[in-house]
Formats: sequence, structure tokens, C-alpha cells
Amino acid sequence: MIVRSQIVGCGSYLPSRLVTNAELAAQVDTSDEWIVERSGIRQRHIAAEGETTSDLATNAALRALEAAGISGSAVDLLIVATATPDNTFPATATKVQSRIGMKHGAAFDIQAVCSGFVYALSVADNFIKTGQVQTALVIGAETFSRILDWSDRATCVLFGDGAGAVVLRANRGKGSSADRGILSTHLHSDGTHYDLLYVDGGPSSTQTVGHVHMEGREVFRHAVINLASVVGEALAANDLKASDIDWVVPHQANRRIIEGTAKKLGFPLDKMVMTVERHANTSAASIPLALTEAVGDGRIKPGQLVLLEAMGGGFTWGSALVRM
Ligand code: UT7
Repeated sequence: MIVRSQIVGCGSYLPSRLVTNAELAAQVDTSDEWIVERSGIRQRHIAAEGETTSDLATNAALRALEAAGISGSAVDLLIVATATPDNTFPATATKVQSRIGMKHGAAFDIQAVCSGFVYALSVADNFIKTGQVQTALVIGAETFSRILDWSDRATCVLFGDGAGAVVLRANRGKGSSADRGILSTHLHSDGTHYDLLYVDGGPSSTQTVGHVHMEGREVFRHAVINLASVVGEALAANDLKASDIDWVVPHQANRRIIEGTAKKLGFPLDKMVMTVERHANTSAASIPLALTEAVGDGRIKPGQLVLLEAMGGGFTWGSALVRM
């Protein structure tokens, strides 16, 4: 018998304000046609003035707790994956901790940009597997709208705000891929590509928050290669084939990246959960947002095999294989 981290509840939250491509085309030199053709994005949700990452995270967390049928006081470990914290410190996770009524354990943030949720899931899984905690709450939450240069058409059309969360609970398994819970996680980074996707500010460098900069074409090229590789790694580690996977929940950066990865790995497109059209790229929030949607509408069913994969600034990338 071994310990597995089972996903026992999912929740998500999107700010109410919707911004369409047409609205952006009125502000910068772009068009709905260009954005849809190059990225698949049609709209994004943007946080209201004063609405912070911790607000989005708390709403998603409360919904995940409700779905799991537990209260915040039962959570032993809370991790928020975010690149857009409320403040430089303390961790956004501690604010969420107090709001959900979690009175013990530990809360901290993880920074791996768009791979943040997979990184946080991996950390929480390892805490559970070593027996240090029983119940963990893993949240991906972002307000990327606050770090965009709204006059830069190459980046401002691509991102959105939102949050998603999962509750993990220790569960006994037999050690095979038939067990329910996280079967394996695989994390990578390569700091030689730091400058291809970064924010040009920070406490120690400029004492400002800064704006997102991206060499889109280069990031795209690396994304398809790295994602295909880390998905292959997850399949090999579990002695599985692409055809064994019921659903892939990819990071939602670009429809063409998702399609390119699916093609490279032999996944039919109807197995790829896609929200990029409506949510745009919500960085660390995109996977738990998409997962919550597909669980909520009944596509993803208990017992099915789900593969999560992401790639982001750093570069960072990773995958997680989960039996729901
Ligand atoms: O989540 C973290 C990971 N992030 C990603 O995975 C994003 C990866 N990259 C991408 O998704 C794509 O590279 C983009 C969507 C960012 C861009 O698509 P692309 O097909 O790679 O276009 P491009 O950057 O090669 O630009 C093509 C042209 C350029 O004009 P020229 O040089 O050909 O004259 C750009 O200046 O499109 C121009 N362009 C735009 N035109 C209209 C760039 N942004 C826009 C825009 N509207 N918003």
C-alpha cells in the first residue's frame, strides 16, 4: 500500500468583466481575425478595480472546499501558485488562509509562472506522500491584467485573469496506475531562457512591478518541444500509451500550441480540454480553471485518467498524471 493524493474537489472563479477582441482592437493596432487565427482567443475576463489575486483565489478555494464537502479548518497545507501576488510579501496564500478559516498548518506561494499550478500540485503531492499532511488546497490564481503593457499588442491580447483550485486528500493505493489520485509529477526548468518571457521589474531590480515581455515565436517553438517531451515522460513513467489517457488538460496559452502538442503525441483533439477561446492565458490559473469546467460539465468522470501539462517563463515546464 502506498499513499496517493486524490483530487476530492475542484472550484474556480472568473471576474465578471469580459473584454472582447473587438474592444482591444479599438485600443491597439490589432484585429479580432489576427487574435483568433494566431491564438484561438476570443475574449478574456479582467478583474475589477480593487479586485486582487487573493480575492479570486479565495472564491475559487471556497468553491473547491464546498465540492470536497470540507471546511477550511480541515486544510493542513495551502499553496497558491501565482506570478501576480497581492503584495511582494507576505505570501498571497497567507491571506487566503485567513479568509477560508484555516487555523493550522502552512500556507505559502509558488512562483513558476504558467507552470505554477503543476509545480504546486507536485509539491503538495510530495507533502501528502511523505505523510506530513493529510489535506492540501492547491490554487492557481492570477491578475495578469495588472502586469500587462496595454499599449503592447504583442502581449496584451493574450492574457486574462482568473483562479482555480483543487482539494487533495491522502488516500491509500496499491501502487499501480489503477489507483485513484496523482500517479506522478514531472518538473523541469531551464534558466538559460530567462529573457524570452519575463517581467521587466521587481523589488530587487527596479523597485517597480514591471510589464510582461515575450519573444512569442521562440516561446511557441520551445513550448511544443518541451510539452511533448514532458508528456512522454509521464506516459513512460507509468507504462502507459497516449490511447490510455481519457483527457488532457493543458495550460491554455494558445490553441495552436495545444493542437501542435496533441498532433505530436497522437492525442485526438476531442480529448484536449480547451478554454483558451473564452479565458485566454490565465497563467497558473488556466489548468485548474479548465479542469473544474470539465469536471463540472461531466466530461471528466471519476476513475478517468487525466494528464495535466504546462510551460511558462523561466523556462519552467511540467506534467502530472492523475486518476480522478
Ligand atoms: O503561457 C506561457 C507561454 N506562452 C506562450 O506559449 C505563448 C507563445 N507564443 C504564441 O502564442 C505566439 O507566438 C503569439 C500568439 C504570441 C504570436 O503568434 P505568431 O504566429 O508567433 O506571430 P509572430 O509573433 O511571429 O508575429 C507575426 C506578426 C508580426 O508582424 P511582422 O513582423 O510579421 O510584420 C507581429 O508584429 O504579427 C504581428 N503582431 C500582431 N498583429 C496584429 C503581433 N501581435 C499582433 C497583434 N495584432 N496583436
